Amino acid sequence: MEFAEVVRRRRMVRTYDPDRPVPPAVVRRLLEHAIRAPSAGFSQGWAFLVLEQPEDRDRFWSVTGGQAGGQDTGGRWLSGMRRAPLIIVPHSDKNAYLDRYAEPDKGWTDRDEARWPVPYWHIDTGMAALLMLLTAVDEGLGACFFGIPPELTGGYREAFGVPDRLDPIGAVTVGYPVDDWRSPSLRRGRRVVDQVVRRGRWSGAGQLP
Ligand SMILES: Cc1cc2nc3c(=O)[nH]c(=O)nc-3n(C[C@H](O)[C@H](O)[C@H](O)COP(=O)(O)O)c2cc1C
Repeated sequence: MEFAEVVRRRRMVRTYDPDRPVPPAVVRRLLEHAIRAPSAGFSQGWAFLVLEQPEDRDRFWSVTGGQAGGQDTGGRWLSGMRRAPLIIVPHSDKNAYLDRYAEPDKGWTDRDEARWPVPYWHIDTGMAALLMLLTAVDEGLGACFFGIPPELTGGYREAFGVPDRLDPIGAVTVGYPVDDWRSPSLRRGRRVVDQVVRRGRWSGAGQLP
């Protein structure tokens, strides 16, 4: 598929065919592409939990799915998402970045987090997640990135033995789309380029406020 088409066709899919597993070669490709993401200082402070077995996926939904999906989608969100044959949870590893930037070529030996303009560990892991979303489209699959509510993160960690140093930045369901519905959020409409871009300077004559 043309890259521009992959980008244009990507959308979050929340209902899957439960009887069509993701082929192992595709699971592999999703992960191989994820780790092609850029990372600050080439820290690569990410780690992925892959859940394919029904009992593992059930456990994931039982610890995270209680209030998932937003208020106006009712049980539809969870019942559609539960059908995904594959869940990949991307985690960020802040300490990998603090360690990396304490090395001689960076020199931030104080490991002071105030040095970081924004948390690059989450940014980089998010970029890896986006590569998985785009790869899914390229493979004819659908995928959805969604959040794990903070109050449920502890239960998630415990259920899967995830070490404290790793933060799940969200989770990605993957599978073959079927009977999907549009998110109510899409009613907001996509903001157009001129609404979100300033050229040359932020404000001034002829510029939007
Ligand atoms: C950081 C992030 C968190 C999101 N969390 C959720 C979520 O918890 N549940 C969900 O159904 N969709 C979630 N989404 C998907 C957005 O609702 C979706 O990207 C947006 O409505 C635009 O739709 P599209 O991606 O299909 O173009 C999330 C997306 C991002 C980037």
